[in-house]
Amino acid sequence: MMSCTTELLDVHGGIDPAELAEYGLRPNEILDFSANVNPFGPPPGVRDAIARTMIDRYPDRSCGELRAKLARRHGVATDSILVGNGASELIWLSAVAWLRQDDPVLIIGPTFGGYERAARVANARVHLVMASTSEGFRPPWEAFCQFLATKRPRLAYLATPNNPTGQTVEARAIARLAKSHSHVGFVLDEAYVDLLADDVGDGDSMPDNVIRLRSLTKSHALAGLRLGYAIANPETIRNLATVQPPWSVNGPAQAAGLAALSDSGHVRKSVACWRRESAELVTRLRDNEYSPMPSAMPFFLLPVADAATARQRLLQRRLLVRDCTSFGLPGYIRICGRTHEENGRLLDALIDLRSEVLPCRT
Ligand SMILES: Cc1ncc(COP(=O)(O)O)c(C=O)c1O
Repeated sequence: MMSCTTELLDVHGGIDPAELAEYGLRPNEILDFSANVNPFGPPPGVRDAIARTMIDRYPDRSCGELRAKLARRHGVATDSILVGNGASELIWLSAVAWLRQDDPVLIIGPTFGGYERAARVANARVHLVMASTSEGFRPPWEAFCQFLATKRPRLAYLATPNNPTGQTVEARAIARLAKSHSHVGFVLDEAYVDLLADDVGDGDSMPDNVIRLRSLTKSHALAGLRLGYAIANPETIRNLATVQPPWSVNGPAQAAGLAALSDSGHVRKSVACWRRESAELVTRLRDNEYSPMPSAMPFFLLPVADAATARQRLLQRRLLVRDCTSFGLPGYIRICGRTHEENGRLLDALIDLRSEVLPCRT
């Protein structure tokens, strides 16, 4: 049997009911700024679609209707799409399908912990190329390219826009790089692409050694249902599907996905509003001695004296932020903006806690 250590457990934002119980709090009392999920909720038709789902039947194993809809959306063939239980499942499947003991894997950090965890469970050797604080977390593109040439990884994981930094890499640069390293599989995580200011659509077409991952959990607020998909060439999709557990995408999630994708107006309008409110929160933090980091997303990093302390102080006020220690950033919290009134509550608390939360000036 495979042995596993707690080192392999990655940390995520979002509410942990067991932790709240220790503070005598209930999940519905908490304002969650720690998960990068649309605070305006899913498109209105989603709840009806879920209610109409026949939950006493097995779901369509191949997610046929949803794949067809996604294929039309992206202008690709249906067999170029695989739907998964969130982008997380597809990251996991990429490791199961392609990584073997000691295979080198390259990851640009700081980033989502799911890549490293999946690679380590597959006993691969992980090489992290880290963006530096002093350069505002600009993706370390030159170092990444050098590593590709010298380590010859089996897989390279790259998120754009990235979590937690909100930084982006141009699709054209990735396509060029993937073309010149055809022996490397690139897992291009675009889970947050719908949250960018401009609709970038699918941008440049990608070579066959790139798997693009998308998520409906963030932009379409389906985090509790879990829904993501991969876009790649049909052979790659078949390889991923081969290692996918049956029925991993449940019926309500498939119905929700179909309804959500039929209402692009809701996502467009709510994301625009979400971005405006987050930008205003950033400005008001700057006006109050804080120095939020630049980000292309409605979430951003905020330098603090100690992330664990800041998170705890805010949680005592029923406000949850992401402690970024698990990203290797113990001096940062990540804040995902919410509505105007909710952001105001967080701002007031941060102003009140300045003496405990602000980093020491040197
Ligand atoms: C960059 C990135 N990719 C993927 C995921 C997981 O997405 P999903 O909820 O679709 O599994 C996350 C979640 O935080 C993320 O930050």
